[in-house]
Amino acid sequence: MAADRGSVEAVSCTGLAHAFGETRAVDGLDLAVREGEVFGLLGPNGAGKTTAIRCITTLLPVPAGMVRVFGHDAAKERMAVRRLLGYVPQQLSADSALTGRENVALFARVFDVPRRERAARVTQALAAVGLADAADRLAGTYSGGMVRRLELAQALVSAPRLLILDEPTIGLDPIARTGVWEHINAVRAATGMTVLVTTHYMDEADQYCDRVGLMHRGRVRALGTPAALRRGLAERRGADRLPTLEDVFRDVAGSGLDDHSGGGFRDVRSTRRTAHRVG
Ligand SMILES: Nc1ncnc2c1ncn2[C@@H]1O[C@H](COP(=O)(O)OP(=O)(O)OP(=O)(O)O)[C@@H](O)[C@H]1O
Ligand SMILES: [Mg+2]
Repeated sequence: MAADRGSVEAVSCTGLAHAFGETRAVDGLDLAVREGEVFGLLGPNGAGKTTAIRCITTLLPVPAGMVRVFGHDAAKERMAVRRLLGYVPQQLSADSALTGRENVALFARVFDVPRRERAARVTQALAAVGLADAADRLAGTYSGGMVRRLELAQALVSAPRLLILDEPTIGLDPIARTGVWEHINAVRAATGMTVLVTTHYMDEADQYCDRVGLMHRGRVRALGTPAALRRGLAERRGADRLPTLEDVFRDVAGSGLDDHSGGGFRDVRSTRRTAHRVG
C-alpha cells in the first residue's frame, strides 16, 4: 500500500468533481497538500470549498476523480481516512446542552479513541485550547470564541495527522481569532500535524498559511505561498506597491458579485446562521 509517512502527500485530489443537480460545485479540482504544512483554501462564497472538504473527509462521495489522504483512497478506504483526520465543520457542531467535557468525550468515542485513554485525552484536548477551567460548564454558556475552541478540541481529541478546519474563525473578534490560531500552532509544533483550512480573512491566510490555493467555480485558479502570489500580481500589474492577498483574491475571483459564481441564498443563510450562533 502506498500509504504512510514519508514523501506521501497529506491530501491529493485529482480531477475531483461533485455536482448537486445542475450545480457543478467542484469541477475538476486538482489539489496537493504537503505533509506538515498549513494550506489555506480560499475563494468566494459558492466556490466549492466546503464541498471539496466534505469529499476529502468522506462525508460526501467522490463521484468523479480521485481523493487520497496520506495515500488512502477516500472512496475505497473511508474508515482509514477518517482515522487520520480531525474536522471542524463550517456549521457549528458542538451541543449546547452538554458540557465542554461531554462534547469532547462524545467525539473521542465516535473517533475510536481507546477507552482506557479517553478521559486523559479529553482533558488534554480541552487544556490544549485553554478550556480546562470551563470544561464542566454547559457549552450553551460559552462565548463564540470558546465554542470555536471547543470544536477545535473535539477535532484534536483523536490526535489527527490532518486537521481540516472550515472557517474556524468566522464571526470572532480579532483577539479570539488570534487565540484559535495560537492553539492550532501550538499543537502543530508539538505533533507536526498538517492543517487544511478555509477562511475569508485574507490577513489571516497571509499570516498563518504556508501556501494557499484560490478556488473559483469549482477549481483552484491560483496556487502558491501568499508572498509569491502577491509578487506575481505585482509583476503582472507593474504596481508600485506590493498588492495584498485580497488584491490577488479580487484578481482571481472578480468582484464576487457575479451571479454565476454560485453563492446564493443557501450560502448567505448558512453563513449568517454560523456567524449568529458563534457570535
Ligand atoms: N447540499 C447542497 N445542495 C445543493 N447545492 C449545494 C449543496 N451544498 C453546496 N451546494 C452548492 O454548491 C456550490 C458550492 O458550495 P460550497 O458550500 O462548496 O461553497 P463554499 O466555497 O464553501 O462557499 P462559502 O464560502 O459560502 O462557504 C454552491 O453553488 C452551493 O449553492
Ligand atoms: Mg463553505
